[in-house]
Amino acid sequence: MTKLDEARVRDVLSSVIDPALEHDIVSWRIFKACEISPSGDEVLVKIAIPTHAYPQAQRRELATRIETALEGAGAKQVTVIPEVETAYLPAPSDKATLVGPKNVIAVAAGKGGVGKSTVAVNLALALARHGAKVGLLDADVFGPSIPTMLGAPERPPGTTPEQKIIPALHHGIKVISVGFFVEKGEAVVWRGPMVHRLLQQFLADVVWGDLDYLICDLPPGTGDVQLSLSQLIPIAGSVMVTTPQEVSIVDVVKGIAMFEKVEIPVLGIIENMSFYKCPACGHHDEIFSHGGGKRLAQEVGAPFFGEIPIDTRIRYGGDAGVPVTIAAPDSENAQRFMDIATRTALGVAAGVLSKPKRSPRLAVIR
Ligand SMILES: Nc1ncnc2c1ncn2[C@@H]1O[C@H](COP(=O)(O)OP(=O)(O)OP(=O)(O)O)[C@@H](O)[C@H]1O
Ligand SMILES: [Mg+2]
Repeated sequence: MTKLDEARVRDVLSSVIDPALEHDIVSWRIFKACEISPSGDEVLVKIAIPTHAYPQAQRRELATRIETALEGAGAKQVTVIPEVETAYLPAPSDKATLVGPKNVIAVAAGKGGVGKSTVAVNLALALARHGAKVGLLDADVFGPSIPTMLGAPERPPGTTPEQKIIPALHHGIKVISVGFFVEKGEAVVWRGPMVHRLLQQFLADVVWGDLDYLICDLPPGTGDVQLSLSQLIPIAGSVMVTTPQEVSIVDVVKGIAMFEKVEIPVLGIIENMSFYKCPACGHHDEIFSHGGGKRLAQEVGAPFFGEIPIDTRIRYGGDAGVPVTIAAPDSENAQRFMDIATRTALGVAAGVLSKPKRSPRLAVIR
């Protein structure tokens, strides 16, 4: 057998498939570097895990695949050193408004009241529980509900001496909402250009700091906010929320079409209020029908991220300011949001890694 050198290691590893991303680890830059002993018997492989939300079991499986492949090529001892490096693409110069967040994820729906904010909040908290640095932008300037859903902050929003905005801190995530700056219950009427300027300020003047993900909670429909955001910053993808019944599905299709027009990929579809399981008798009821989200995902060729049942504890968590992901971290519903966070983050990583690496300098020249 030929002695292992760097070129041979790279060659062998190019046939190793990442179990979570289902793609080879060399062309998708999971493999970073290797060190080989002079004899060629011992190999140390450094890999970049592209998100904190990458499942532990698949991290082990990936290490095993690398070990097996290199042992098959003659290595006697293989050491795999994983390090989380959140995958992202530097912003092109025409969308460089946002400083700090690596990936922006929009949570959207066609209709109002289907659970966008509930999903946005729990998705953000779940990503943080996985270990990522997370921000949450309440981009629903017309009806901001994030401040209510997150309750009293650990740190209220503030300003720097340079008049930049410091986001509030809620359960470890950085949060900005119009709701912080208007009286509760006060009607907010914004016209298109004002919405654009307000969002521009939220994006440019907020000191976000280094973030792996910025989750944007959008207002319902396909209006000014969606358009402004897509013009101002690069959005890695959208998570679409629907309830199972036809009227909601039809509107989500319009939402997806709008995102496609502005070249924002749909990362996945969530069916919220999917079913109701009575906690007293265990009876299972499909109040708004069932399965519409999955069917829609198949029709539009987007991944289906799963179902969230109607659950009093989810509603209560939103009203009381302690979302279910942290109020009951071991519950089935918290687990559903942890899984959704993993799928979302892997979807973002796949989108980034499938594109050639863009250096910040090249981005400026463009
Ligand atoms: N799975 C669920 N089980 C029980 N209640 C839920 C669930 N999802 C959302 N809710 C509740 O339904 C209401 C509407 O949810 P939410 O505010 O998240 O929807 P939205 O789509 O953001 O609404 P809007 O269009 O007004 O922004 C809230 O009171 C929330 O707590
Ligand atoms: Mg909302």
